[in-house]
Amino acid sequence: MMVRLRFRLNHEDVEIHVRDPASTLLDVLRDDLGLTGTKSGCAIGYCGACTVIVDGEAVPACLRMVGLLEGREVRTIEDLGGPEGLDPVQAAFVKCAGLQCGFCTPGHVMALRALLDEEPEPDDERIRRTVDGNYCRCTGYVKILDAAREAVALQKAVAVRNSRAGAATSPEGRRR
Ligand code: FES
Ligand code: FES
Repeated sequence: MMVRLRFRLNHEDVEIHVRDPASTLLDVLRDDLGLTGTKSGCAIGYCGACTVIVDGEAVPACLRMVGLLEGREVRTIEDLGGPEGLDPVQAAFVKCAGLQCGFCTPGHVMALRALLDEEPEPDDERIRRTVDGNYCRCTGYVKILDAAREAVALQKAVAVRNSRAGAATSPEGRRR
């Protein structure tokens, strides 16, 4: 018997039917929904390659039973960037060359996205703790940490630009 589940995925309502509600979110994203940006590494919650955001919190999709997602809000790497441009975290990884093979990158990006959504200006200790939760076999972490710090700066610049644009188009701004 199939079980029906409804939740929000990347800002859209989705309804899926799964045979086993104990299937992992990782398997459902990749195999049933075709969202292969979320990577499968250790499958035991250790490496962070499968990091997604559920209700604002970065979590390993390999440990989330899909049956517990009813009514939840899920964001994956496919939610970031797009034709209008990259998310500041993605842009920072490109700018700082914070990747080599790229396998761990979606997990890093999602973990940092969750951090910056919660705390736009995290201190270095929080940045390090966040990056520490994701395993990278290639880079040695120096450039990933550079990218994480750059993401904070880029996000801040975007916020300033948006607030200036908002002020310019407000009734007060237009009168100036
Ligand atoms: S694949 Fe999920 S934490 Fe490694
Ligand atoms: S860039 Fe290859 S595993 Fe991190």
